[in-house]
This record gives sequence, C-alpha cells and structure tokens, in this order.
Amino acid sequence: MTQDAPMGVGVIGFGTIGTGVVKLLASNADVIASRLGFPLRLARVADLDTARDRGVDLRGAPFDSDANALIDDPAVHLVVELIGGYDASRRLILRALGRGKPVVTANKALLAVHGKEVFEAARRGGADVAFEASVGGGIPILRALREGLAANRIESLHGIINGTTNYVLTQMEQGGEPFEVVLKRAQELGYAELDPSFDVDGVDAAHKITLLASMAFGAEVPFKEVPVEGIRDVTPLDIEMAAEFGYRIKLLGITKRRVDDAGRERIEVRVHPTMIPADSLLAKVDGAMNAIAVHGDAVGPTLFYGAGAGEMPTASAVVADLIELAREVRRGSTGRVAPLSTLPEALVPKPLVPLGELHGRLYLRFTAQDRPGVLSHITGQLGRHGISIESVIQKGRGHAGASVPVVVFTHPASEAAVRKALEAIDRLPDVTAATRVVRIEEEL
Ligand code: HSE
Repeated sequence: MTQDAPMGVGVIGFGTIGTGVVKLLASNADVIASRLGFPLRLARVADLDTARDRGVDLRGAPFDSDANALIDDPAVHLVVELIGGYDASRRLILRALGRGKPVVTANKALLAVHGKEVFEAARRGGADVAFEASVGGGIPILRALREGLAANRIESLHGIINGTTNYVLTQMEQGGEPFEVVLKRAQELGYAELDPSFDVDGVDAAHKITLLASMAFGAEVPFKEVPVEGIRDVTPLDIEMAAEFGYRIKLLGITKRRVDDAGRERIEVRVHPTMIPADSLLAKVDGAMNAIAVHGDAVGPTLFYGAGAGEMPTASAVVADLIELAREVRRGSTGRVAPLSTLPEALVPKPLVPLGELHGRLYLRFTAQDRPGVLSHITGQLGRHGISIESVIQKGRGHAGASVPVVVFTHPASEAAVRKALEAIDRLPDVTAATRVVRIEEEL
C-alpha cells in the first residue's frame, strides 16, 4: 500500500454515534486528509438493525449485520466499536485486536471492568485501542491527561462526567421540582434514557472516574470497589439549602492522591452528589454539559469543558482517535503512548481511601417529628461523637405528628464519626426516616 492510499474504517454499531461518525468522515474528509496525508474512507458498516433509515449516505460501503465479517474484511483497516455493553463488544474488540486491527471504542463500561484484558490483547496483537469518546464525549480529556499533562504528578480531578444527571439537577434547581418529575420530562425530551439507572445511579460516572483515576495516578483501580451514589435522593430542599449557604449540588466523579506520613500513597475514587462553592467554575456547568477540573503539580488548576454526549461531539472524539490510529499504522508504529498513560508494567494497585477516612464539612438532612426536645436529641448525639455544628435550620412546622426536615451543616468532621452518630440518631424514636448526607468539597 502506498503512503497516500486511503485507509478503510469499519463501523460496528450504527446508532446515534455511528451515524455521527459516518457523517463526520464524509463532511470533514478534506480536513482529515490534509492532517493525515491520506483519506480515511468508510469501508463497511455492521448493525443488527439493517432496516432503519439513518438518513446518511454510505457512499457504497457495504452494510449488513455481520460484525465478524466486517472485522475480517481486508478493506477494513481500523475498527470502530459502538455497540456498548460487555459481552458482544468484548468479543468483537478482542477479535479485531487478535487480527492486528486497531480499535476505537466509546465503551467505558467495558474498559472500566475489563480494561486490563483489552489492553493486553492490544499489546499482544500489535494493534492499538483508543477510547477518547468513552469519557466526556467530545472533550479531549484522555488525550490531555496522557499527553498534554504528561509532565505532571496529578493531584486531583473533579468531574461532571454525566450529562443526564447534570441536566436533571439543573432542571430541579431552576424549577424547584422533585427528581421524579424532572426525570420523567427528561425522558420525554430524550435527555434521559428510558432505563435511566446507569446514569441516575452514578454507574456511568463511576465507569468514567475509574478510567480517569487509572490514567491520572498510574493505578489499577478495581471498579467494584469505587463507592457510588446517584442523585435519586437529592430533593429540592437540599438544592435550596445548598444555595442558601453558597453552594450548588453536582454529581461529581472525584479522584485524589493522598500520601500519608509514612510516604504511603493511596487514592480517593468516588462518585456522589456534592455541594461545591457556587462561584467555582464547575458549579457554573449547567444542563447536559460536562467539565473536568484537573490539578497537576506543575500546571496547577486546569478545566476542560464541553459536550459530554451527543451524535457529533462524540463522533468528534471517535474520528480523532481514528486519525491518530491511522497515522500510527501508516508509520508502522504501535503503542506510542500507553493506553492508560502509565506503561502497563508500571501500573500498580494503589489502595483506595475508605470513605470513613474522609474529613470535611457535611450537609445532614434529618427527618424528625416536630416536638420539643427533638433537636437536642439530634445535636446531643452529634456532640457525643465529636461533631461540631456550624448551622442548624428547621424548615416549616409540621402538623401534630408530622415530620419536618432538620438541616445541619457541620464543621469539618471525620466521616466515620458522622456515620456512627447517624446510626444512633436514625434509631431515635423522633427520627422518622434515614438521614441524608451530602459531602461538601471546598477546594476544586
Ligand atoms: N449517558 C452519558 C451521559 C453519556 O448522560 O453523560 C454517555 O457517556
């Protein structure tokens, strides 16, 4: 093959993003060729649904349901996997890599759980796997961590990395409406999936923070050990209280490096609703947008912002990966940059910091009967566990026998101590529902 011969792209999964990839390869063919020195050409498409009209011109590229045949097709030099999930996608990616064909995927679930196997297969097959679209949609955050920030020891990363939950929280804030009402409308408008659990329960964000933490800290991060909390329990009152105290609530993926006095390095990796200062840049990220704040020891604070999902933003990341892989293939090079930034042999398991060891300010929402002495029972338990209160607010007054919310902002406290106090408080006869806790992050 000559140096300026076109390179063939096979797309497995002809849904929203696959359609975007097909469109972008056509609409920006000139730009791509001018950056590569040769064209990228759509060679073949596979999807189980071959009947639906996607409204795009495949320009003669074969389209059928046979993904294996696509991988084996000699006209396909680069494989794009966009079907998601764990099983078929894993099998197809391993097949392509086993045949020495580079793979571009947006599949964060697969990589967060089976990344090691996939990256090893890539190494064995002498073919790269690229996955920029798996985190932050069109935001080139993985490339930034791997290359732009490669000189840094990363200190922390805070990300709004799920557009659905950011959209729902933003709408709840703007309309004062409960979660269920906003979610239903988001589903009707196509902002949330019909089965929204991966998004609203924080699983999607956890997949993404697992990959980001591995990349930031050169760590093997066991996805199953990452603490995850979604947004189902966030109420309009929590949002209102946050605003009153100068915060906004965002679902954040958080990862930080911690070094103890003995020099032992551990990492925090977690996903949960978080109160962040309303004047911070992350707090201003509204709707379905994503943003990731990364703090490096040399560069200081950086912020990456953009569309975290959607047809063309995600296609932007997929095609950028195709361009990179095509360039490497033509130069006869593989493995130029390790997929997780740190060389596989240098990746090490780093212990995760247990949630109980976190120390910070917390928002506590108690639900209690509105009668004399209740507040002192609650605050008494907090005091007994060494938790100092900054503010207490009781909103509204219940009718006889009704429950009311009691909100407490603590001074910095040990989370283990708070959990112990809450165990005792939630057993009090006056307390009628489990207490809600929202962590506060002051430094982003
Ligand atoms: N479901 C994701 C989100 C987009 O809501 O951000 C794909 O990663």
